[in-house]
Amino acid sequence: MNKSQTAQWIERDRQQLHPVYHPKSHTEPLVIERGEGVWLYTTDGQKILDGMAGLWNVNVGYGNEELAHAAYEQMQQMAFTSNFAGMTNLPSILLAEKLAGFAYQGLNTTFFASGGSEANDSAFKTARYYWKRKGKPNKTKIIARKGGYHGVTMYATFATGLEKYHTMFGPGFADFIHIPAPNPYRFEGAIKPGETVGQAAARALEEAIWREGAETIAAFIAEPVMGVGGVIVPPDDYFPLVREICDRYEILFIADEVITGFGRTGQWFALKHWGVKPDILSFAKAITSGYAQLGGIQISDTIRDAIETAPEGEAYMHGYTYSGHATACAVGLKNLEIMERGDFPERARQMGKRLLEGLKTLQEFPFVGNVRGLGLMCGVEIVSDKDTKTPDPALALKIFKAAQSHGLRSRPLGATLAFAPPLVIREEEVDEIIKRLGAAMDGIR
Ligand SMILES: Cc1ncc(COP(=O)(O)O)c(C=O)c1O
Repeated sequence: MNKSQTAQWIERDRQQLHPVYHPKSHTEPLVIERGEGVWLYTTDGQKILDGMAGLWNVNVGYGNEELAHAAYEQMQQMAFTSNFAGMTNLPSILLAEKLAGFAYQGLNTTFFASGGSEANDSAFKTARYYWKRKGKPNKTKIIARKGGYHGVTMYATFATGLEKYHTMFGPGFADFIHIPAPNPYRFEGAIKPGETVGQAAARALEEAIWREGAETIAAFIAEPVMGVGGVIVPPDDYFPLVREICDRYEILFIADEVITGFGRTGQWFALKHWGVKPDILSFAKAITSGYAQLGGIQISDTIRDAIETAPEGEAYMHGYTYSGHATACAVGLKNLEIMERGDFPERARQMGKRLLEGLKTLQEFPFVGNVRGLGLMCGVEIVSDKDTKTPDPALALKIFKAAQSHGLRSRPLGATLAFAPPLVIREEEVDEIIKRLGAAMDGIR
């Protein structure tokens, strides 16, 4: 296909409203026609290395035939049927069974949704209901972190700690409280003498609990490695302290592993890096490697008991048409089989090490302030001055565009360029990311 045909596609694309959209920033979208492995092909003949695995999710890479067959076979058999009480289907039974205890011991029960926002709304509603069942109906508030991203349904929007997602849709809910994230490069809270960033960030949680009153707080939600907020890898002492505080004040800990789940950080689930276990786990994205829309929550046995022992007539009044979607679950099952067979967490560890080391060589550029990552989830923060660490989102955007013209897709998140390629990436393709990004930066210097 040539350039004028692509221009026509772009003109016809005006009939849809895109996510996170302003027409001025959507003048020359890449029109993607095909994908294979880590590569995307556009209608005007560009070949682009997708350094973001779509939106952090296409773990097995593009064009996987096994997943296509799994979907085809399930669709032929029965694409969808209601999963509301009174009915169930085989793929959802098998996938829930497979997931039982898979992420964390004691999380044996799964509720399915279609994506991450729905998963988090389900987590918040379930946490509130749990406390009602425990005779503590005033425990309704959610503590989240500044910079955290939890999706765009109403609750998820206001759990998200990024102002720009709020302003158009406010007022928000008083029930969501935001505290500083444990960002080792630029911690926004106060650090007492002798304290680590992890300790200071955990103290911020405890102080928020004191301020609000533990008897009003249902849950604390956190991404183990913050994604959209700029790829923030927490210090090692943070999550063990958080777990201890949540236990001490009877607050449920919701791990939003929508990005970090299913191998991305080098463990099947990221809290494992710190030996910590949540009460509720939100998952989505890579459960199907993006080949079908699926998300959900896993809940602890204690929460499940509270739901199961509710008085008759008090049903769990929550569910989506597509909860337990047969085709999506069949794809999820096959995707897990592929990722287990290929030991994808190990791939993420090995390729992630190579990627991080490569990105660190770019620190010679005067504007590369910080390079960080865990597994195949890395961030390069662009600053106007390394001493003052002044973030430079405009320059980050410029580098993002230059990299794209070198055939490399990343994602500008404020001043940070994110890299989270498919986990099937090969060594030479990792090196290609560094080469192309380096060439883009060279052109800017
Ligand atoms: C950590 C996290 N939680 C939740 C979501 C929302 O997921 P979805 O876009 O599938 O609703 C995202 C999406 O990027 C995410 O990164």
